[in-house]
Amino acid sequence: MKRKEKQKNTYGGAYVPEMLVHALKEIEIEFEKALKDTQFQKKFRELLHSYSGRPTPLIYAENLTKHFGGGKLYLKNEGANHTGAHKITHCLGQALIAKRLGKKELIAETGAGQHGVATATVAAKFGFKCKIFMGEVDIARQRPNVFWMEQLGAEVISVSSGSKTLKDAVNEALKYWMAHSDESYYVIGSVLGPHPYPEMNRTFQSIIGEEIREQTRKAEKKLPDVVVACVGGGSNAIGAFYDFVKEKGVRLIGVEAGGIGKRVGENAMRKENGSLGIFQGYKSLFLQTSEGHIAPTHSVAAGLDYPGMGPELATLFREKRVELQSATDKKAVEACLLTAKYEGVIPALESSHALAYAYKILPKLSKKEVVVVNVSGRGDKDLFNLTRYLNHKEFKKFLAEEIQRYEK
Ligand SMILES: Cc1ncc(COP(=O)(O)O)c(C=O)c1O
Repeated sequence: MKRKEKQKNTYGGAYVPEMLVHALKEIEIEFEKALKDTQFQKKFRELLHSYSGRPTPLIYAENLTKHFGGGKLYLKNEGANHTGAHKITHCLGQALIAKRLGKKELIAETGAGQHGVATATVAAKFGFKCKIFMGEVDIARQRPNVFWMEQLGAEVISVSSGSKTLKDAVNEALKYWMAHSDESYYVIGSVLGPHPYPEMNRTFQSIIGEEIREQTRKAEKKLPDVVVACVGGGSNAIGAFYDFVKEKGVRLIGVEAGGIGKRVGENAMRKENGSLGIFQGYKSLFLQTSEGHIAPTHSVAAGLDYPGMGPELATLFREKRVELQSATDKKAVEACLLTAKYEGVIPALESSHALAYAYKILPKLSKKEVVVVNVSGRGDKDLFNLTRYLNHKEFKKFLAEEIQRYEK
């Protein structure tokens, strides 16, 4: 676990109501202490190993390497983690911090439900009460995740204000936290939000890059030439990149949601259209309307459908250390299906964006060049979304029949 000594970026900060300043300071102090505590480090590593299943495998994608005929492709399979994605890692780290602070309850907001499930999972594991704030619209379209959160013991609170989606759920969670921060800990699901969350979550996620370094060295006797990861808020990307930031020979590429077009509302490309702003407690690159409101976004992958980006990643992009690219919905879906067919790995639609960009550059690379794609999660969760996108007639028929079976 490594961390940067000083936060020298202008992005970041903690733009929160005064009532939350104390709660954030408390977390920052405890996190600082935890970093110096070998027992904490040991406990965290032990949980990653025995609960989450780390180290996750680095798979040599032999078939796809042959198919593209250029660089050598490896898949870092974060989907092998417990609950199916890298997200469980920073949830485990934060749950340990919450325990150290003597908190009784974890709260979180969720859009598609993945972060809600991961938070409810660690709450069950560590014996916390748990409240998940979720927009009414998202509850309706992500029922399977709501079902699992409830079975894990969480209370799912329906948010009916505003557009009844993620940003409204964040507002409600913050309001609740302000009134209950003595006993509640807010679990943030990416490398964003007010300081110290971005740095803390990156510190927990940097295990991904550490493992990529060790595993690539073992397999190839060298570092990777290129590391590719998708960028929603930025946690799997900064997690994969962090260990290589100082290795100037390693190209770091983040892939954003190109969606269905280049107009506002059709994608989540902060590289093209993002501008400096402050939202949800931090300063970073955000998609905004000309009036300075947060702009609508679109992606086939729920986890990339977000208007902002973690401040540290935005800084690395500004410093030209991290490249930002994009992949459209169509290319991501193609990459998902190709990876399943050639390698027996079903990637999440988020991760499929990173794969799509890797498939674009692989043929142009030499056979000696090693590309590692961070497959941030597995695709089980995308069953409904993907079959709808593909207009899969058989699946639609199955759903209709299932309703009839259900009614019997
Ligand atoms: C599998 C997967 N990958 C990536 C993301 C995007 O988040 P981040 O950019 O923080 O890794 C999500 C978010 O829900 C996800 O579920």
